[in-house]
Amino acid sequence: MTELAYVNGTFCDPADAKVSVEDRGFQFGDGVYEVVVSYDNRLFLLDRHLARLHRSLEAIDLPYDFEAHPIEPILLEGLRRTGFRDAMVYIQITRGACSRDHVAPDDLAPTTVITFARRPTLDDAYRQKGAGVMTVRDERWANCFVKAITLLPNVLAKNRARRKGYDDAIFVTDSGEVRECTSANLFLVHAGTILTPPRTESILHGVTQGYVMECAARIGLPVEERRFDNAFLRQADEVFMSSTSVEVLGITRVDDQPIGKGTVGPVTMQVHAEFCRSCRVTNEDTAASQRLVS
Ligand SMILES: Cc1ncc(COP(=O)(O)O)c(C=O)c1O
Repeated sequence: MTELAYVNGTFCDPADAKVSVEDRGFQFGDGVYEVVVSYDNRLFLLDRHLARLHRSLEAIDLPYDFEAHPIEPILLEGLRRTGFRDAMVYIQITRGACSRDHVAPDDLAPTTVITFARRPTLDDAYRQKGAGVMTVRDERWANCFVKAITLLPNVLAKNRARRKGYDDAIFVTDSGEVRECTSANLFLVHAGTILTPPRTESILHGVTQGYVMECAARIGLPVEERRFDNAFLRQADEVFMSSTSVEVLGITRVDDQPIGKGTVGPVTMQVHAEFCRSCRVTNEDTAASQRLVS
């Protein structure tokens, strides 16, 4: 549950947080977002999340003055106020509020909303069983590398999957190419090699996806960015997903077909163990996060 909000310069109770009904985020989904977690009081991979936020803002031509309005001090202050050592922080920047018109004025002030919640953890039984996922046609736009708040296709796909008894959906193109889950990247294990779809404009370049590739390499597991299709996915020895929220989560069923033995596989467990070990000791946290600890 969100326990603290920040809107355009002011911290407040989430119940009192207000954004204009004319905000372009609400009217058009005209904005971008990030989700960052903290482990034991350290904002995990914050620099990478902020770098992606820059890229997403640039990709949608939304000018944001990070020097005048730096994000990091707000995050640190929010963690201090909530006292959460394990937090989930949502950052949304929209083009701002103006009379509803597809064309936005050049001088519009962006809207910044940041919310703070305790970091949810996955149920142990679910993590051990692994997720069941359903494949769906990838109907999203051409720039999925932008972490845009226009998530309608993702929301529809995940809700449809849930109604059919699956945990998530995997986007697949008409030609059968496998892309990613609705809010996580995808990996498979084939003959001892870990494969993940290439970080083109067709998928979100997951901060966790990149970090998982580094974890795998560190423990001596070969890992490659490579395209693969739906048929290849079904024959994989193991499949798993990665995201800031689920970390590394095994997928044991795709469209009613078990993957491998239908249980979370050894490579998935090894990668997740390395992720858990390293996320608390990684020395890549920003200087500011380290200041928070001291
Ligand atoms: C479509 C999609 N793919 C992948 C991810 C995983 O990204 P990250 O690891 O940066 O959380 C997300 C996260 O929200 C997402 O929405």
